Amino acid sequence: MEELEFLTGIAMQAGAIALAEQAQLTPDRIHTKATQLDLVTDADRKVEAFLSREIRNRFPDHDIYGEETGRTGDRGEYCWIIDPIDGTTSFIHQLPNWCVSIGLYRRGEALASVVYAPASRELYAAEKGKGAYCNGVRLHVSARSCLEESLVTTGFSCLRAGWQEENNLKFFDRISPKVAGVRRFGSAALDLCLVASGKAEAFWELGVENYDIAAGELMVREAGGQVTDLFGKDQYPLHGTLATNGVLQDTMLNFFQDYRCIRK
Ligand code: IPD
Ligand code: CA
Ligand code: CA
Repeated sequence: MEELEFLTGIAMQAGAIALAEQAQLTPDRIHTKATQLDLVTDADRKVEAFLSREIRNRFPDHDIYGEETGRTGDRGEYCWIIDPIDGTTSFIHQLPNWCVSIGLYRRGEALASVVYAPASRELYAAEKGKGAYCNGVRLHVSARSCLEESLVTTGFSCLRAGWQEENNLKFFDRISPKVAGVRRFGSAALDLCLVASGKAEAFWELGVENYDIAAGELMVREAGGQVTDLFGKDQYPLHGTLATNGVLQDTMLNFFQDYRCIRK
């Protein structure tokens, strides 16, 4: 697919731009957004500007929805959803768990996606109906069905957004003692890639946005896993997001039976 090849190329170039920026990151290049906890760097903006420019040059009729600039275009058939750096806090702290995440959608359906993690040089790519790959190797979700043996990942964007009620702490408390381990890596896109790779059995989070999961959700589905909201329906990320190897979807959903969505 022409678009996937293009996607792969621009994601890798974007990763190189971000890596170079990370090496020279100074406090004056770090800014706050909605709250003191919500950070953006010059690198996030530079990477998004680069990706938008490349996409616009190649596909002038397509819409673009980027975390830092919002939506541009005429609400046409195709939309490229960009998270220029997913895991900005890790990026700022010189940790490796961040990535460039891009998904191509057609009338709301994911067609192709790429997640590139420059620090580990992992390039995840998926195309609808054609599977998901990491550095060219086909991905498959794990076959584990026993919760006690499962590794799960999560995040706390809801705390950063100041959610007082119905935040993730209740579910973290409930799920942690029942699984082999919980990991919090700080990049929802990479968390989804871990599920797709069969390294983690599940990922859940309340409060992520479309751009956080736009690329990763296709990765999970193309690797044989399942993505739903916390009610088991398809209103994710609005009603929370749960991705699993499929086998554990219902088991994990049981933890959220009293979940109340407070988002509109
Ligand atoms: C964040 C990461 C994090 C998740 C937050 C996201 P950002 O994205 O994906 O894992 O917990 O919900 O906002 O701000 O680093 O692009
Ligand atoms: Ca993000
Ligand atoms: Ca981001």
